[in-house]
Amino acid sequence: MTEWIGTANQSYSPYAIEELRRLIDGVSFTQLAAGEVFLMNSPLDRVETLQTILQREPIFLRHIQPVDRTIEINGNAEDLEQLSAMVRSAAFMFAGKRTAVHIRRMSSTPFIYSASDTKAVMDAVLAEVDAEPVVQQPDVIIAIYAAASTLCIGFGSPQDMLSDWPGGAVRFQREEGQVSRAKFKLLEAERAFDLHYEQFRRALDVGAAPGGWTSLLLERGLRVTAVDPADLHPSLIDHPALTYLKRNASEAKLKPGSFDLFVCDMSWSPMLMSKLVLDLEQALAEGATAIITIKLMHRKPMQTIREVIAKLETVFELKKAKQLFHNREEITLYLQKK
Ligand SMILES: C[S@@+](CC[C@H](N)C(=O)[O-])C[C@H]1O[C@@H](n2cnc3c(N)ncnc32)[C@H](O)[C@@H]1O
Repeated sequence: MTEWIGTANQSYSPYAIEELRRLIDGVSFTQLAAGEVFLMNSPLDRVETLQTILQREPIFLRHIQPVDRTIEINGNAEDLEQLSAMVRSAAFMFAGKRTAVHIRRMSSTPFIYSASDTKAVMDAVLAEVDAEPVVQQPDVIIAIYAAASTLCIGFGSPQDMLSDWPGGAVRFQREEGQVSRAKFKLLEAERAFDLHYEQFRRALDVGAAPGGWTSLLLERGLRVTAVDPADLHPSLIDHPALTYLKRNASEAKLKPGSFDLFVCDMSWSPMLMSKLVLDLEQALAEGATAIITIKLMHRKPMQTIREVIAKLETVFELKKAKQLFHNREEITLYLQKK
């Protein structure tokens, strides 16, 4: 029997739980933060639980951490002393390793220290035990969740936790003059699906306005054809690598086989979106990569997702479906044209 803390985007934890129930027989759950964070009791051991999850990664599970240790919260300085003692006693796991400390606090926790104060203390203890305290690209993460009466602590690699960000909450720096926040979705998709956009040559961006995704692909050196009846941001219009078709995608005339990357972020009915994507399919080269967001408009997201995937699978192979941190009422698909 092993314990885990799972996290989904706000209000989506019931779907993550449904997916986990289907994966692991006899699993049980307790809610920690409504709609978002939950405790999972798995009848499988740690390795089996992780393997089962990683083999068919749930769409709505953003982050998972094991609960390897627990500390009763006193609500005073003793809590930090106990945490420090715990890190010292587990020093063999961190010595010589790039180690990140992730702290999340439930809103009603009696743990009195902020995440940054706790991290500062933990980093000092890590330095004592010859670990290298880091924020980015850690080998190992110490994940601490301050719950209602206990600190739940887990150790693992970023892969094991599905993310190298606390709770899977990926933060990107907002840039000056950034065209839209939507850019973060495509940036996150690149990391989540282990892509490198600069390796593609020609992208088709459908539902491109105001142009956050288009701007990212242009920055990476791609030639981009952006299709949208709405206006693109004026800063993009004169870009020499941009072709802008200011029209509905169903009216776009595109040369067959000419794009190796297809991105589509239309906030539209999922079924109409899939039809439109299939109608454009001839413009994509064989093996082309596709990144598509599915708007979850209905009350039954799992059913919507299954139906859209079934439709798209007539032409594409599904590589991964994931609700990204920057997705709101939607998920992102990573596909490859057959
Ligand atoms: C969420 S916005 C896209 C944001 C964009 N990815 C960005 O980074 O700025 C959705 C866009 O899809 C466009 N759209 C909706 N239906 C469309 C269609 N049939 N053909 C082309 N564009 C469409 C809308 O005009 C809107 O600009």
